[in-house]
Amino acid sequence: MTEATDITVPQHVAIIMDGNGRWASRRQLPRVAGHRAGVENVKVIIERCGQLGIQCLTLFAFSSENWRRPTTEVELLLELFSLALEEELERLHDNGVCLQVIGDREGFPDKLKTRIEQAEDLTRSNDALNLIIAANYGGRWDVTEATRRIAAAVAVGKLSPDEITEDTISKYLCLTQLPEPDLFIRSGGEQRISNYLLWQLAYTELYFTDCFWPDFGTTEFDRALERYSVRQRRFGMTGDQIELANIPASSIA
Ligand code: FPP
Repeated sequence: MTEATDITVPQHVAIIMDGNGRWASRRQLPRVAGHRAGVENVKVIIERCGQLGIQCLTLFAFSSENWRRPTTEVELLLELFSLALEEELERLHDNGVCLQVIGDREGFPDKLKTRIEQAEDLTRSNDALNLIIAANYGGRWDVTEATRRIAAAVAVGKLSPDEITEDTISKYLCLTQLPEPDLFIRSGGEQRISNYLLWQLAYTELYFTDCFWPDFGTTEFDRALERYSVRQRRFGMTGDQIELANIPASSIA
């Protein structure tokens, strides 16, 4: 489907790109081949988001827990990320993509940190698509960091404990300036959130597929959007209330 006219396009899609290793094993290839194919598919999905007018795409590239993998694989994942930034930056910029990296980048090699900063600086004013890469990111890390900064603001008298609301917490978390994800997709067959965007996914529609990430191309992506389109998002209300107010399925109330 290229014209996706009969689907509700979500504003924000968040993806866990799982299954690269198994995709490679099935082909008797080393895991690295799966990650390389995964990067190729990232390009496909970014392009599709651009075509459909999706505003934000958040990709889980490297979790806080991925440091537990063999050193060679960790190094390779960081190298692939760095290389992709180097090779794709100009094209992303030309296509109006605003790139932002969320997560604790302190542990990254200096070269990668510099590339991230350059990419963010160059693309800051672009507005065709917000591409957020979660790298060394964990939802608990995000909440912990926010709590630490809120406590610091309270300690210096900038904020009173009584003023702390859900909105306050949201403002201190990653993705604060963007709409919360409407649709979460996890490829690779596992059905869990794995410490991704724990706060931000509170009302997000979840979609799980057995398809391995390198195979999760436009056909699979469009299928996920079709399934999203027929979901009714109720945000705590009843289905009757939503229908009476004539709020379309999948739109934000
Ligand atoms: C999960 O597959 C995938 C990852 C841990 C990394 C995903 C990273 C990329 C696709 C490359 C870098 C990203 C960007 C944005 C350029 P897995 O290894 O856990 O697969 P398995 O569960 O089959 O072993």
